[in-house]
Amino acid sequence: MSNASYWNTKWKSRSNEPANNFAERVYKQVANKSYKTILDVGCGNGRDSVYFANKGLKVTAVDFAGSGVKQLQSENKDIECVLSDISRMQFKSNSFDVIYAHLSLHYFDDKTTTKVFEDLYKMLKKGGSIFIKCKSVDDALFGKGKKVGENMYKDDHVRHFFSKEYMAEKLHNFTIIKIRKTSSVYHYYKSAFIEAVATK
Ligand SMILES: C[S@@+](CC[C@H](N)C(=O)[O-])C[C@H]1O[C@@H](n2cnc3c(N)ncnc32)[C@H](O)[C@@H]1O
Repeated sequence: MSNASYWNTKWKSRSNEPANNFAERVYKQVANKSYKTILDVGCGNGRDSVYFANKGLKVTAVDFAGSGVKQLQSENKDIECVLSDISRMQFKSNSFDVIYAHLSLHYFDDKTTTKVFEDLYKMLKKGGSIFIKCKSVDDALFGKGKKVGENMYKDDHVRHFFSKEYMAEKLHNFTIIKIRKTSSVYHYYKSAFIEAVATK
């Protein structure tokens, strides 16, 4: 199954959930700034997009899974929903004050990951902030399934597990504020992550 059809099926059956804790923590860091626009990269069915929109931010939400994006758009006319592959987004340079990616950038091979991070750098405004959370090499799913690349495994879908060093390498254009390991229960499983905050 391709990653797109995996997620398309997933969002068809998953009901609306409250915002992720990561979104709440990100909002605390941007609330006192003059930021107005945010790009939710790999929004899924948009629980965090809705959260940010309710906080007064102008949200653009991108995902390649039509089922999630359509549901989000039909229920939230004020959110600009874009059906697109993250590796082929077509936004202009300097478009967003904030870029937010919750568990959506750990699916690409190294070459594509490099391109995606370069694209995100261009799309972010000078003075803007980027917040990223990815699965880490310490996650319980690391090593499960068929190895399809360096730190990449295909189980029910392909995942590219990040280390702190790999995150730093990909963020080299940005000014890195913080990169740290975290762990929590995500969808019933204890999971390990790399979280990053950076600015342009
Ligand atoms: C773990 S979910 C996270 C969804 C959302 N950020 C959330 O936290 O609820 C990963 C999302 O990334 C999206 N995604 C994965 N690869 C993608 C790609 N190449 N282009 C666009 N979206 C992608 C999936 O469709 C899915 O909605």
